Amino acid sequence: MIRIGIAGLGFMGMVHYLSYEKSRGVKVAAICEMNKKRLTGDWRDIQGNFGPPGKKMDLSGISTYTSLDDMLEDPNIDMIDITLPPSLHADMACQAMKAGKDVFCEKPMALTAADCNRMARVSKNTGKQLFIGHVLPFAPEFAWALKEVRSGKHGKLLGGSFKRVISDPEWLPNFWSPKHTGGPMLDLHVHDAHFIRLLFGMPTAVITRGRQRGELAEYWNTQFCYEKPSYSVLATSGTIAQQGRSFNHGFEIHLEKATLMFEFAVIGKEGKYLCPPTLLDNKGRAKTVKLGDGDPMNSFASEIAEVVRCVRKNCRSEILNSDLARDAILLCHKQTQSLSRGRSVKV
Ligand SMILES: NC(=O)c1ccc[n+]([C@@H]2O[C@H](COP(=O)([O-])OP(=O)(O)OC[C@H]3O[C@@H](n4cnc5c(N)ncnc54)[C@H](O)[C@@H]3O)[C@@H](O)[C@H]2O)c1
Repeated sequence: MIRIGIAGLGFMGMVHYLSYEKSRGVKVAAICEMNKKRLTGDWRDIQGNFGPPGKKMDLSGISTYTSLDDMLEDPNIDMIDITLPPSLHADMACQAMKAGKDVFCEKPMALTAADCNRMARVSKNTGKQLFIGHVLPFAPEFAWALKEVRSGKHGKLLGGSFKRVISDPEWLPNFWSPKHTGGPMLDLHVHDAHFIRLLFGMPTAVITRGRQRGELAEYWNTQFCYEKPSYSVLATSGTIAQQGRSFNHGFEIHLEKATLMFEFAVIGKEGKYLCPPTLLDNKGRAKTVKLGDGDPMNSFASEIAEVVRCVRKNCRSEILNSDLARDAILLCHKQTQSLSRGRSVKV
C-alpha cells in the first residue's frame, strides 16, 4: 500500500483525494493545508470547473498538518502529492525528496526551467521518484489520439493543431502573477506543450504572435518548427475577455491516411462537443468515436493508476516523467520570448 500525504487541499487536492479513494494499492495517510477548516473535513467552499462540488468529509484515520515541514517528518507517508500553487512546487518537491519521499507533483512542474532541472537533479541524487501530473494524455480524446497515432495503421504523422482557450479566470487571484502562476502560458497551454512534445518531439524553434498582458502572454498562436519538413504543428491558446465560454479545447491531428479531430467547449453553463472525436479516413468516411461517459474524474483515476504502477515497479513513467514536463516548461518560456521579441526563437 502506497501511503500518500497530500500537500495543499484546494481544488486539485480534492480531485486527487477523491481519485485515491477509488484507486487500488494506494491510500491518503495525511493532508497538509494551511486552511484549518479544510482539515476538519469541511470542503464545502472548494470550487472548480469540473468534478463534484466540495462537501463535508470524514477524515478520521488521516493525519492533518498545517506545516509542510511537519508532514515531511511523518514516517507513515511514502509519497507526497503536491497540489500547491505552482510557485511552491520546486522547493516543496526538493524538500520532500530529500526527506526520503517519492513525489507526485501537479503541473506546471515549476515556474522556470532552472527550477525543473533542480527538481530532476534532486530526484537523481536521492533516488526518489518524481512524477509530474500531466493528466491530458489520460483524457479520453487525447489517449485515443495517442493510441491511433502510435498504432502505425494510419501511416506517418504529418502535423496537427491544438487549441486551449478560456474566459479570463477573474476569480483566480494570482493567475496573472508571473511569480505565482505564470498566466495562461504556464497554467493552461503547458498541457498542450507537453502533449505536442510527447507526440512530435522537441521542435527546433517556435514562432509566436499574439497579445500580451504585461510580461505574460494573454492570447497567442504558435508555430512549432521541426527539422522534419512534413511536420506542421500549431497551437492556439490563452484567454478571452468575455465570460460566456469558460473552456474550449480541441485538436486536429494529420496523418498520411487519417485525420483525427475533436473540439469541446463549455458555452454558457453547458459543456458540449463542437466536434465529437472523429476519424476521417482515406475512403471519405467520418467515423465518430464513443469514448466513455465523459467524466473528467476518470482521467485522474487513470493518471493515478500510472503513478501506482510505476512506484510498484520502480520504473519511469513514459508520460508523467519530469524530462517531458521540463521540456514543456522550456517550450512555454520560448513561446513567450518569441511573442515579446516579435521573432522566431530557437529551442
Ligand atoms: N491538471 C489539471 O487539470 C489542473 C486543474 C487545476 C489546477 N491544477 C494545478 O493544481 C495546482 C493547485 O491548483 P488548485 O486549483 O488546486 O489551487 P487552489 O488554490 O485551489 O489550492 C491550493 C491549496 O494550497 C494551499 N496552500 C497554499 N500554500 C500552502 C502552504 N504553504 N502550506 C499548506 N497549504 C498551502 C491553499 O490554502 C489551497 O487550499 C496548481 O499547480 C494548478 O496548476 C491542475
